[in-house]
Amino acid sequence: MGRIIAIMNQKGGVGKTTTTVNLGFALALAGKKVTLLDMDPQNHVAISLGLENGQGGLDRILLEGDGLDEHLIVVRDNLKMISAGDNLADFETVTVGGASRGKALKRAIASSSLMADDFVLIDCPPSSGLLCINAMFAADELVIPVSGDYLSLQGLSRMMQILKRAETVLGHRIRVWIVSTRMQLNRKLTEQVRLKILKYFPGRVLTTMIRENVALAECPSFGKSIFDYKDKSAGAEDYQSLAQDLLSGRTS
Ligand SMILES: Nc1ncnc2c1ncn2[C@@H]1O[C@H](COP(=O)(O)OP(=O)(O)OP(=O)(O)O)[C@@H](O)[C@H]1O
Ligand SMILES: [Mg+2]
Repeated sequence: MGRIIAIMNQKGGVGKTTTTVNLGFALALAGKKVTLLDMDPQNHVAISLGLENGQGGLDRILLEGDGLDEHLIVVRDNLKMISAGDNLADFETVTVGGASRGKALKRAIASSSLMADDFVLIDCPPSSGLLCINAMFAADELVIPVSGDYLSLQGLSRMMQILKRAETVLGHRIRVWIVSTRMQLNRKLTEQVRLKILKYFPGRVLTTMIRENVALAECPSFGKSIFDYKDKSAGAEDYQSLAQDLLSGRTS
């Protein structure tokens, strides 16, 4: 069994989807077998890759009990994905199943071909509801993107509280990695935020900082990863380096 990683922060717009897609591509290009799961009803992973969402995906898996393998879409060599589907938001309000509805995704992964992958990356919505709980329970590791602004730090401390509660329920630790995203390195505030997270989370902050880069903002509109859109950009360089951090556990 490989590494199952949820990309999570309840704050919106910090770079969760950008990180899921481009980190996933970088790992696939490094020869790893990767599957991306779009746990966000906004369907941003499929949209970013220029794929159709019409056939259903995690909505049918979580709401109707379909198997994960029925909904796998091949993106390129070593890389597959499962889209959110049109009705995934309905899962947030499911009340049947009691506490076990938090483990629906974990169960689905355990009985699927994803167990043979090197990496499963789960793109989470900007919330802390049932979809995120499922992602957290399914994952052994979290990647928390934190952008270089003050409110992003607030999102991080909220995330750590949610994590603590989840670990109590699960009875085991979840490894946390923090990644600095959307960094404007000429800004004082950006540097202050980085120093704060390094101070409070020693050994947890991945070394690579993802710079604010216009090509990263543009590539979803072309339905391409940064590697297919502009492979010589700062964005491509940063996500390739981030993949190496994750493979070797390199932190600052
Ligand atoms: N490093 C970057 N440089 C430039 N633009 C970026 C960068 N990272 C993300 N963006 C842009 O910022 C916006 C938010 O990024 P993204 O969608 O990845 O965040 P998110 O955390 O997934 O958002 P949500 O909470 O809505 O799911 C997008 O328009 C994206 O293209
Ligand atoms: Mg997103």
